[in-house]
Amino acid sequence: MPIQRKTPAKKTTRKTHPARLIGDGAGSSSTPPKKPSLILLEDSVVRSRNKFPTPQFHGAFPPGFLHPGSSISVSHFTLQDVGRILEEAAELEAMPVFRRAQRFAKRRVALLFYESSTRTRTSFELAAKSLGADTVLVSALSSSIEKGESLKDTGITLRSLGAECIILRHPNSGAPYLLGRATGLPILNAGDGSHEHPSQALLDLRAILAHFPAKKGETARRKHAITDRTLDGITVTIVGDILHSRVARSNALLLPRLGARVIFCGPEVLLPEYAAAIGTGVEIERDFERALKQSNVVMMLRIQKERLSGLEIDLEDYMEQYQLHMERLAAYAPTAMILHPGPMIRGLEITSAVADGPNSAVAEQVYHGSIIRMALLARALDAKPGKNERSSRSR
Ligand code: CP
Repeated sequence: MPIQRKTPAKKTTRKTHPARLIGDGAGSSSTPPKKPSLILLEDSVVRSRNKFPTPQFHGAFPPGFLHPGSSISVSHFTLQDVGRILEEAAELEAMPVFRRAQRFAKRRVALLFYESSTRTRTSFELAAKSLGADTVLVSALSSSIEKGESLKDTGITLRSLGAECIILRHPNSGAPYLLGRATGLPILNAGDGSHEHPSQALLDLRAILAHFPAKKGETARRKHAITDRTLDGITVTIVGDILHSRVARSNALLLPRLGARVIFCGPEVLLPEYAAAIGTGVEIERDFERALKQSNVVMMLRIQKERLSGLEIDLEDYMEQYQLHMERLAAYAPTAMILHPGPMIRGLEITSAVADGPNSAVAEQVYHGSIIRMALLARALDAKPGKNERSSRSR
């Protein structure tokens, strides 16, 4: 069942002000720019520039550029930050429910969703409520966004109504930076275009750590002292639509820093050769079975039909080569942990037998998501802008 090639959308002449990157352009992870390389112009539209390699907004921002409680890209976290988030997650998980509900009682958290979501939205909302916060959901289809209100104005409105933190899902890469600059509030990126999904990478990390507990004598992993050797010996294969996947990007930016080997696997149309340039520790293997043989963890990705316009891909052929089914799993990776960020398209990238089978940790991922998101919210609501930073009110 080939996906029809669509006629490319007509270009409009309307002028927009995209999120623009100047300076070093490609934004390599190893050489953070001396000056901020990101200019966000205030407009309702943040344009996606999100074919690999999407410019990454890496490196230290100058004081005040973003609220320090923000979680926009995993590249902003040091390993120490990651360790602290995991530690906070463990503490909140263990805390009695009534005590947890006092932690941020009556604080205000806004969820601003321009795209649909089940897991991320629900888990962030329940996480905020379990910490005692009041939440409000604004979604693109039932708000003044439908009437053309800009992201900036929506954010400022939420701030005026008392929001102390905004959780944003947006179809365009870079949108959380614009919102952070416009409001001065901590922004939690719940997925922006094909850029990043940092809470997903952190929950995947927590699921992996829980699945591969520390060996005798390795106390560091249990104590959340995350180092560049924490995932030594673990190979994670990410399979499918890497080109459009913010989940793949965030995981590939995070896991190798902890010592994991990451293999990207898929056909060239969904996984261009230059994708490996995302960072050290990332390799490409086109042959799924060869990749499976090397994997401790296999992360299957959804084929994002909504993002395939203009690409030619034969789904029958794709399934033949890349579907994870029981025979393949049993033959090439019988003990591998199977992850999927969801939503799963059963019968396409993964069969029901695998999704519901003994190797599947998909339900565990969702559980870890609710814990990690509590920790990210706690980090956001605890953080104070530094003395060099303008308060949100002065913007
Ligand atoms: N993993 C993930 O982002 O799922 P949702 O789109 O349901 O939030």
